[in-house]
Amino acid sequence: MLPVTLDRTSSEPLPAQLAGQVRSLVLSGTLGTGDRLPSSRALAADLGVSRAVVEQAYDQLTAEGWLEARRGSGTYVATTHTTITAAAPQMTSRPTGATSRPTGATSRPTGVTSRTTGVTSRLDTGTPFFDPRLELGWRRAWREVSVTAPPRGYDDPRGLPELREALAARLGRTRGMDLHPDEIIVTAGTTDGLRALLPELRPGPVAVEDPGYRAAAETVLTYGREVVDLPAVETVGDLGDAVAAYVTPAHQHPLGRVMPATDRLALLEAARRAEAVVIEDDYDSEFRYDVAPVPAMATLDRGRVAYLGTAAKSVVPTLRLGWLVAPPDLHELVLRRRTITHAGAAWPSQRALLTLLRDGWLDRAVRSARRVYAERAPRVAEAMGPYAGLAGPLAGMYSTWLLPETDAVRARDAARAAGFEINLLSGYARTSGLTGLVIGFGGVSDTELDQALTAVTGALRG
Ligand SMILES: Cc1ncc(COP(=O)(O)O)c(C=O)c1O
Repeated sequence: MLPVTLDRTSSEPLPAQLAGQVRSLVLSGTLGTGDRLPSSRALAADLGVSRAVVEQAYDQLTAEGWLEARRGSGTYVATTHTTITAAAPQMTSRPTGATSRPTGATSRPTGVTSRTTGVTSRLDTGTPFFDPRLELGWRRAWREVSVTAPPRGYDDPRGLPELREALAARLGRTRGMDLHPDEIIVTAGTTDGLRALLPELRPGPVAVEDPGYRAAAETVLTYGREVVDLPAVETVGDLGDAVAAYVTPAHQHPLGRVMPATDRLALLEAARRAEAVVIEDDYDSEFRYDVAPVPAMATLDRGRVAYLGTAAKSVVPTLRLGWLVAPPDLHELVLRRRTITHAGAAWPSQRALLTLLRDGWLDRAVRSARRVYAERAPRVAEAMGPYAGLAGPLAGMYSTWLLPETDAVRARDAARAAGFEINLLSGYARTSGLTGLVIGFGGVSDTELDQALTAVTGALRG
């Protein structure tokens, strides 16, 4: 019998309560690596709940990498460091438990795909679905901005207090983060948060996932720091002389995998030893369709993780809003500089986001986009499955497909000739040498998506 108690009067659903308590048992060591959990039937009977409650909790913790299901044998506390979930011909993965070092190579992200004349639609990772039914609420938010007097002087450098309150509540509800509003600094997006952090780190290189977010690597280079390549799908047990590690644990960009719980703990331990900070880019974690969003890595160690959130995926990138929750010492340094330099997010955007949060608009936007992505992701998988290996679980607003570069280029060119721009995976890779296609499906219609996939699979079939 597991030492868990469920509170039926709580507003938190029973599967989430159970998942939370089992997660704590693993974290505290009460449940050790390799321990077998009770069967869902037995635990359900012990707790007096339906078996579905236990199965949902186990599925959630398996997706997060705390547990692993062994076929025909049961559910265990995870021992392996899973890498990618699907066949991936070009991916090199190390033996279980292996530790890898950043390569130390300094490099620049390779060229971004250029837009050609006549290209109308981009199947990129950065354009979210926008539900036209939400336009009224969007307009209401901006009307409210227009009749509200802005602050007369330079306002609170942390951002609009009411917005930070609403964000703290939402981050608690959706990301498992227990925050005081004053711990949040409103930024002009993820990259702005990174720009705020970089000058406050001690001299030294910054490790960035490879393949990884191009804007992050470029920003690090812009600030005169070396980028070292952090393998995106391996356990990192040593950060070398890096002073920070930039990672996307909820949905590795662009390979899509969830960083397993064991890898999160290993990276945090490596960061502690190196006295480095882990910069968590939590860009699209709300878009899981199978399980609840995986909790933020920052929940594991708020003193070691600087958390970056963004409105770019849940609202629109052009709003240029995000939020930074930094460890206390970094928070103070960032705030000090932002106060002196008047760096802050524009008040009208902040005020509009406040209304969108308060009216429940953002929750509705996330739900409707999630429904659309849940429908489109399998469609892409069905089309691409026969030709390429999927690099991670289906989640978010894009999926990444492993292919030899010649095939990827041929497919990209065919899509381009049909009027669609699709990014090559090699554009995100530095030393990893991974190749394939990164197919976004948020910013196009269903018809356009089908047309683009027809062009791509036609080229791959050829
Ligand atoms: C990995 C990743 N992080 C963050 C962002 C958002 O960045 P920003 O908030 O600066 O617009 C994106 C947008 O495409 C992204 O792909």
